[in-house]
Parts: sequence; C-alpha cells; structure tokens
Amino acid sequence: YLMNIDIVSVFPEYFDVLRLSLLGKAQENGLVHVAAHNLRDWTHDVHHSVDDTPVGGGAGMVMKPEVWGECLDELLGLRGDAYDGDANPGEAAGTDPIGRHEPDSAGSVALTNGGSAPHPTDTVNDIGTSDRPVMPGEAATLDGAVISEDAIAPGNSADAHGTDAHGTVLIFPNPSAPLFTQRDATELSHADRLIFGCGRYEGYDARIPDHYRAQGVDVREYSIGDYVLNGGEVAVSVMLEAITRLLPGFMGNPESIVEESYTGGNALLEHRQYTKPAAWRSLEVPDVLLSGDHGKVDRFRRNEALQRTSEIRPDLIEALDCQQLDKFDRKT
Ligand code: ADE
Repeated sequence: YLMNIDIVSVFPEYFDVLRLSLLGKAQENGLVHVAAHNLRDWTHDVHHSVDDTPVGGGAGMVMKPEVWGECLDELLGLRGDAYDGDANPGEAAGTDPIGRHEPDSAGSVALTNGGSAPHPTDTVNDIGTSDRPVMPGEAATLDGAVISEDAIAPGNSADAHGTDAHGTVLIFPNPSAPLFTQRDATELSHADRLIFGCGRYEGYDARIPDHYRAQGVDVREYSIGDYVLNGGEVAVSVMLEAITRLLPGFMGNPESIVEESYTGGNALLEHRQYTKPAAWRSLEVPDVLLSGDHGKVDRFRRNEALQRTSEIRPDLIEALDCQQLDKFDRKT
C-alpha cells in the first residue's frame, strides 16, 4: 500500500462510509489500507470506560491516558509497560501472537460489545484486506496488514509544521489546535502511515500526545475550523479526504488537484466556473470566456480570483507571497 491508515475511535463504525466513493475505490485498488479500531477494546474494566473527570475540576469528561497508551503502543509497535503481546515476533500470521483479525471479519463491522476483555484485534473494523504473512523484522498492523519496521516511528519526528511527513504520523483532531490547511494535507500525503486518534467528550489527557512526541513519534494536533464538533470523527473524515485525494493515482484527473484553491504558495480562492449554455434564465456567461483568447481568459480568471479573495478572505491576501504577484495583479 502507498499509505496505511489506522483510525481509533469509540465509534469505529462511523468510518464504514470510507468504503464508498473514491476512498473505497482506492482501497479496492490497493492504494490505501484503512482500518478503524475501537478504543474500548484496549480497556480492561467491565464497563470499558475510556474517560474520567477532569483533574482541577470542570464540566465534562476527559479521555484517560492509560487506554490510549495501550492502544497506541500496540499500533505503533512500541513496548509500553502494559504491553501484553508479541513474545515471538517471528511467528506466522496465522498463529499470530498479537492476534490479528479473524479472516472472515475482514471488510465487515465486527463490533464486539460486552463480553469479557475482548482482545483488541477482535473488533478491528478492517476496511481493506491483506493476507500477506508477517515476516520477521516486520510489524503487523492490527488488521493483518504488514508494514516494514522502518515505517514506524523512531527517527521520523518532524517539527510540528513545515516539514514533509515521512514514516508514521500520529494525528489528533482537537478544536484547540492549529488549523489544518491544504499545506498540512500535502505534507501528510507523503507519509507511509497515518494513525488518527479520535477524541470524544471534552477532550483527551494532554499527556497522550506529549508522551508519544517524547518517544520520537511525529505527533500532530489539528483543528479543522473554528467551531466545535462532538468528537474527532468528522474532523478525521475531513482530513483523511483532503490527504488521500492527493495520493498519486487517487484522482481520475490529477490536473484537478493542481488548479484548486488553497494550493501551492499561491492560495487564492478560485475564479467562478461556468459551463454551457452561454445563456441560462437570462444569466449570461462572461463574454471573455467565450472569446477563445486564452491570455484574456487567464487574466480574467486571475483578476476575479484576486478580487474575490480580497473580499471574502482578506487573510489569504495578507498571507500571499508578494513574489507570486505580477504587474497586472497590482492593478486589480
Ligand atoms: N473536535 C471537536 N471540534 C473539532 C474541530 N473543530 N476540529 C478538530 N477536532 C475537533
């Protein structure tokens, strides 16, 4: 796979929709592999609790670090103190010491709830499939996908922003984090593996990202906009779509990626689009677009993009790289 994606959530079935549309196709084509995991599978108590009251007081609940710790240690192939697994890494996948998914659960929502201490991997919602056996020196993702060990964390930590992502990146949606932008999407589209941790309730214990950063993992926290959602699931869907559509071979027409708003160092809103007919309900397509003069068309569109951006998103004009402006731009 070009990219392996793990999503941890208390609502893994939310991600069933990823089987549809282009991302579903990309999974069928072996371009990406997506597995959604249920965080509660890493709990040990009868109630499968994942949250607790905030230290220092306040409303709501905060996601507990221990459960996330066990889950992420396992996904990252790190040996945490509660690590309970793989004594025989060389064993074949069939006899799987860590216990990957049942083959017949692949592609289905196998949500076990209740029952005593289900093994984490029992309930992996494996949205793709992989049956290659795990070889020594490789790590297996929970769903049986196999990745090489150098895809895993150590040494790939990048600064929070501005560096291309390689190897594994751990991402937490968080309304109080920096905004997720097209630049981040582009950067993350170069990663081998993305692990998304969906917070619920009022958030997650701040030591979770801190800990994995300290372990050398490239950890990112992002907000998708200045509004509050009930949990990270929708935010992860948004980021996932923005990232995966940039993968080579994902889109039918790669050109459609290049020309869009927010792309490159030239983030302007796009010009308005028209198709035929030239006149519709007394509204006409601008003449210049029918002129066949490509130079004029380009200029018209560029002017419109600048004008609309300065009206709607002056912050983007503010952030514009002046080197990108030409002498005609300055007159608009
Ligand atoms: N969780 C809740 N609201 C969010 C937002 N706006 N962005 C990312 N994660 C969130």
